[in-house]
Amino acid sequence: MKILLLGKNGQVGWELQRSLASLGDLIALDRHVVDGLCGDLSDPDALRATIRRVKPDIIVNAAAYTAVDKAESETELADRVNSLASQVLAEEAAVLDAWLIHYSTDYVFNGQGSLPWQESDSVAPVNRYGASKLSGEQAITASGCKHLIFRTSWVYGSRGNNFAKTMLRLAKDRDTLSVISDQVGAPTGADLIADVTALAIRQVLKSPELAGVYHLAAGGEVSWYDYARHVIEFAQANGEQLAVNVINPIETTAYPTPARRPLNSRLNTQKLRNNFSLHLPDWRSGVTRMLREVLNK
Ligand SMILES: NC(=O)c1ccc[n+]([C@@H]2O[C@H](COP(=O)([O-])OP(=O)(O)OC[C@H]3O[C@@H](n4cnc5c(N)ncnc54)[C@H](OP(=O)(O)O)[C@@H]3O)[C@@H](O)[C@H]2O)c1
Repeated sequence: MKILLLGKNGQVGWELQRSLASLGDLIALDRHVVDGLCGDLSDPDALRATIRRVKPDIIVNAAAYTAVDKAESETELADRVNSLASQVLAEEAAVLDAWLIHYSTDYVFNGQGSLPWQESDSVAPVNRYGASKLSGEQAITASGCKHLIFRTSWVYGSRGNNFAKTMLRLAKDRDTLSVISDQVGAPTGADLIADVTALAIRQVLKSPELAGVYHLAAGGEVSWYDYARHVIEFAQANGEQLAVNVINPIETTAYPTPARRPLNSRLNTQKLRNNFSLHLPDWRSGVTRMLREVLNK
């Protein structure tokens, strides 16, 4: 079994290098050319040529244009990477009769209401990033290739930057922090996403009728404000010396950004849990593990 992984050094891509390794022969690429193979999603011709040379049984695409605010001004590049490249991957997968495993986002929804979004709910992105990701999803489903699309939310990895690390850094220097309290979702570990991906691939190879779009997020829900409090209280309880003594809840409207953010990022994961007999742990378990790593506790 030959697996082509794109975006190997992103949060999810890094963890997929681990979780996919036991499934087959893994060829993992980033945007650079290695041995004549190129995983640059902004270069459709090079991408096509790479897939035709590798002839994978499974393509896992963890690469994406993820700079939500910059996507408002770099719209052409965001569309090229998130939409056009998805179309190229899907067309090539269809020709090879290969599986395409792809990731999308709760930002395909408009963020209204407080119910967790189901896969069948109407989509209506409120920013350019969300629109480019939705267009990528639509290209994949229209291609007729065998696919799994996992919509996820609030991804963190232990490698690189993440929200919790930013809060800890700021809390060391500042006595007051202001954090958005009216956006709600579930922080989801890149390791969990990668593990679920490997598990789902194993099952879908035996049961191809399980193909489709799935919501994948950790259990429970929290606002950014309560997430920040959780992180800081955990650090203090574990002996970290922090300067912060006030954390203020603020509304999204008090923190203007180039891209609008949906308020309701809750994802209903029942379809994934039922179809793949999976348990998705509460967000706190993954965050606690990540914090222990970060704080070396
Ligand atoms: N992060 C989140 O909170 C979040 C939430 C919902 C859904 N998602 C989705 O989950 C998936 C994984 O996200 P992530 O959090 O792992 O993102 P990430 O850490 O930002 O990683 C994205 C990767 O894509 C690569 N990339 C960007 N442009 C590329 C190009 N033109 N060609 C090749 N590679 C390119 C980046 O490479 P460089 O490092 O070289 O730029 C990076 O390694 C994405 O589909 C994303 O849309 C993420």
